[in-house]
Order: sequence, then C-alpha cells, then structure tokens
Amino acid sequence: MSIPVRKFDAVIVGAGGAGLRAAIQLSEAGLKTAVLSKVFPTRSHTVAAQGGVSASLGNSEEDHWHWHMYDTVKGSDWLGDQDAIEFMCKKAPEVVVELEHFGMPFDRTDEGKIYQRPFGGHMSNFGEKPVRRACAAADRTGHAMLHALYQRNVRANTQFFVEWMALDLIRDEEGQVLGVIALEMETGEVVAFHAKATIFATGGAGRIFYSSTNAFINTGDGLGMAARAGIPLEDMEFWQFHPTGVAGAGVLITEGVRGEGGILRNSAGERFMERYAPNAKDLASRDVVSRAMVTEINEGRGCGPNKDFVLLDITHLDPATIMKRLPGIREISIQFAGIDPIKAPIPVVPTCHYQMGGIPTNYKGQVIADASGKPVTGFYAAGECACASVHGANRLGTNSLLDLLVFGKSSGDTVIEDMVSMPKDHKALPAGFADKTLARLSRLENQTNGSSVNDTRLAMQRTMQNHCGVFRFKDKLEEGVQKILEIEKQVAVTEIKDKSKVWNTARVEALELDNLIEVAKATMVCANARKESRGAHVRDDAPDTPEMPNGRNDAEWHKHTLWSRDGNKLSYKPVNMTPLSVETIALKTRSY
Ligand code: FUM
Repeated sequence: MSIPVRKFDAVIVGAGGAGLRAAIQLSEAGLKTAVLSKVFPTRSHTVAAQGGVSASLGNSEEDHWHWHMYDTVKGSDWLGDQDAIEFMCKKAPEVVVELEHFGMPFDRTDEGKIYQRPFGGHMSNFGEKPVRRACAAADRTGHAMLHALYQRNVRANTQFFVEWMALDLIRDEEGQVLGVIALEMETGEVVAFHAKATIFATGGAGRIFYSSTNAFINTGDGLGMAARAGIPLEDMEFWQFHPTGVAGAGVLITEGVRGEGGILRNSAGERFMERYAPNAKDLASRDVVSRAMVTEINEGRGCGPNKDFVLLDITHLDPATIMKRLPGIREISIQFAGIDPIKAPIPVVPTCHYQMGGIPTNYKGQVIADASGKPVTGFYAAGECACASVHGANRLGTNSLLDLLVFGKSSGDTVIEDMVSMPKDHKALPAGFADKTLARLSRLENQTNGSSVNDTRLAMQRTMQNHCGVFRFKDKLEEGVQKILEIEKQVAVTEIKDKSKVWNTARVEALELDNLIEVAKATMVCANARKESRGAHVRDDAPDTPEMPNGRNDAEWHKHTLWSRDGNKLSYKPVNMTPLSVETIALKTRSY
C-alpha cells in the first residue's frame, strides 16, 4: 500500500525549545523546513520549565564559562563528555543574549540587565559558593522562551504541522535517514515526510514513571522511533528525580524557590541539608538533595500523617519577593496542595523530572550510532531526547533550557553545513519504506482479545517507580527487568475498541505506549547492568566506602552505556575527557 509523500529540505520532529531553535536556523537560511508536533508549539513541555536558563553572564557578581563548565562536569559525576560541556557552557552567553534579541521578556536587575538567581550545583570559582547564573523570567522562564522562539519561527516562515505524531524513521539499506512517517491526528491520515535532513527534538519520556513532573505528551517518541530503526540509546540508566514535586500531585515547584532563599525542613523543623551538603546546603545538586529527602523520610523524619513528605519553607521571604519572582509556584501550591506558601510551607517529594540519556549525538547534533564516531547520514537530534552528552549521570538545573538552545542551534547549523555537500535531489525512498509502520497500525486495528492500553501503561509506570527510583536495589532491579519484559508482551497485543479515524486518542495512546516501553526496557536493563553508584544512579550493593567514595567505580564503570533494542544488547564507549580548548577536568570525588 502506498502513502502520500511530502518533500522538504529538513523535517524537525518536536516543537519544544530544541525543535523551535533548530527551525529558526534552517528557515532563516532559506531551507524548506517542516516542524511536526503532537501539540500546538507553545504547549510543548518546555512551557513547564520554571526557574531559568544558565549562562555565565555575571550580571550581579563575577562569573566565568569555565566555572560553569567545571560545575557541569562535577554535576555529571564525570560522566559528561568534556568537549560537549565546554561547547555548551562557552556558547551560553551568546544564545541567551540572542534569545533576548528575539524578544524574550527576562526579568531585570535594577540596572536593566537580565536578572539571574542562584541554582543547585552552580558555584563560583570552581566550587566555592553558589553563584547567580540562572537567567529568569519570574518562575515561567520556559513559557516565555517558547513564545519568543515560536514567534521568531512565524517570522521565518517555518511550516508547522500541528497535531501530527511521527511514527517511524525512514532509513534505507545504507543506514541513511530520509525522513519520517507521521499520522495526522485530526484525520487519521498517514503521510511520509521525505527530507534530506531529519532532526529529532521530541523531548523526554518521564511518563515511564508513575510520579512525574512531565506532561502527558512526554512519551519518548523519538527514542522509540530511533530504537526501532536500529539506533542505540545512550546512558538510559540515568534519570533525574527533581527534589520538589508537590506531594501527591507531582507538579514541579522550581528549584528557583531555593535559589530565592527557600529552605527544606523535616518534621522537627530542621534544615536537614546542612548535614548532607554543608557548603551548598539546599543548593546542592538535585541527586544529592533528592537522596537526602528520601533518607529523611525513610528514617522517620518525614512530615504529615504518613510521614511521607518534607516541607519547602519560604514563609521567611518577603511576600513582595514571592509575588514578583515566584508567582507561578504560589499559584501551583494553592491549586495542588491547598497551601499559600506565603503563610505555610509546601509539602514536597522527589519526582521523576528528566532523562539524562538519549539518542547519542556529538556536540554538532549529529547522531552517532556506534563507537566509531561516524555520524548517521541525514539524522540529527537535540534537547532532552538527545545525549550529547552534557549531563552525564546528573543534570544541573537550568542546563536543560541551555542544552536545547545551544544544541538546537548547533544541529541547525550542522544541517546547513552538511546540505552543501548533499546532492541537489532527494535520495529515493526505499521500496516498502512504510511497510513496518503500516503493519503496526494494522495490528492495532485488528487486535482482538488483547490487553488494555491504560492497564498496561500503569503496570509499566508502577514497575519503574518501585524498581528503579531514587535509590536502587540489586534484587529489585533484577526483578524489574523480568517484570518489564513481561509487560512488553502485553504492549505487543494492546487492543483499542474505538477504530475511528478522526481524533482517535485511543490509537495515539497505544502508539505512544509502543515508544514508552522501549524507554522503560532500556532504562531497566541499563540500570541493572551498571554495578556502581554514580550521579542519579545509586545502588545498595555499591555503597559509599573509603576505597570507593560515593560507591563510584571509575576503574570499571567510567564509560557510557549503549543499549540496542535488538536482543537488549549492551555495549560501552569511553567518556570524552578532552575539552576543546582548556585542560581536562580530572576525576575527583564529588561532594557539595
Ligand atoms: O526547578 C526548575 O525550575 C527546573 C529547572 C530545570 O529542570 O532545569
């Protein structure tokens, strides 16, 4: 069966910050660019980012990109690639000022400069004390950013395909990527987007977990498509739990709250972070704070009738500061916790927030499928779905908005460069390029006596939450792998009762589950395999000892994991310890 084909120079999947930033580069260079998105661009998950975007502008106190680079390497627990980290931190001031010129309404200092607040793990002078590096628009930075980027795209005549879901990559026998096959959600029509360059900017997959700050659209579509097309996924064992999700609801309360002076307290009212991170305290990096909170709860010092949350206290701040700098989280607290934080502390728990791993790329945004370093022709990725790798084993807050600006732009620039040496005409699509996708859709149409999408997704989310959370246990991980492989069998036979074409959200949810399960499998298998503690991956059988501080085992595990879908195979590649221009930041024990 044939499907309609539409031709573009470039197709970008995802209209969050990374996709929109890449699209600006391409459209402004005159390339015919399509952007596909499941939602209207300004509703992409970037809209939920609150606290800021990092850049060493030094607007309120001295700062330097090299300090930012050091903090990012340290935050990553030395698993980040130092060439990519240098590239990102050095580019930060440029992309933030550029964004300001696109119309981003940043808050201002009294002198009219971009307002910057402190954020976890961002320090002055190679780890001395917290520094103001997070450029903020109140606590709605992602919202403001997304609107600025979208409007710039409208000016550049980017072609948006809104409420389209990409289903699969088109890859020929030489491995070259030639576009995507996508479903128009409004009509149910399936169309091929034939392109010389395909950029994935599909965001995260936090919905593999039961409790998540992620939007319902964050279903790892790019990762699922890449895995099905034979591209491995990198470092999938590393997931960030944001310390402050509203207890019981999971909605994000920005780390910017602690940047403005907020304090975490246990049931005794103690500022417990002083014990865990004497220097940075509440502004230690996220993995450290999340583990401290869970330890307080596990040791009986949690709050509430079930002692299952801690408190984030800003009652000592001037209400005018809260209204000016943190209006969004005040509203969230009132709506989701029934608490006005001007008057009482907010109940919070660590909640799944961000995937550090993803589709392997270099800092130019080219997808690198194996240890040879050779790019996959025609395929690029940026933002949360990609692993450049700048976040390593733990990301610093505000480095995600920076990542999507820097690598959105660099992937666009690389496409423009690569286009120069590409033939003028599109390479022909291979015979039967849509067969596997159409077979997947047809299986769903004809499945009887199958499993429920809702029940299967819930089983997956609960398994991930219970077996692969903030603290990880050998037995639980082993059991988790078996459970996820069983759940995968249910995903293969999901059944939808509604077979209609128009706005069939049941079909979309079933297709999303096909992607989620790939991410869940990769995460569980990689987490079970990595027998050390590093960054956000902390195992009971790799404890903190004098011989192995923090349980980190550099001799055996200072390397990236690559998971391949075919046979759940794992391979490894070295961490790039060679920055572009400065000296290597040598391995060291991490403490705050
Ligand atoms: O806490 C926050 O505002 C989240 C920021 C981030 O994840 O970078």
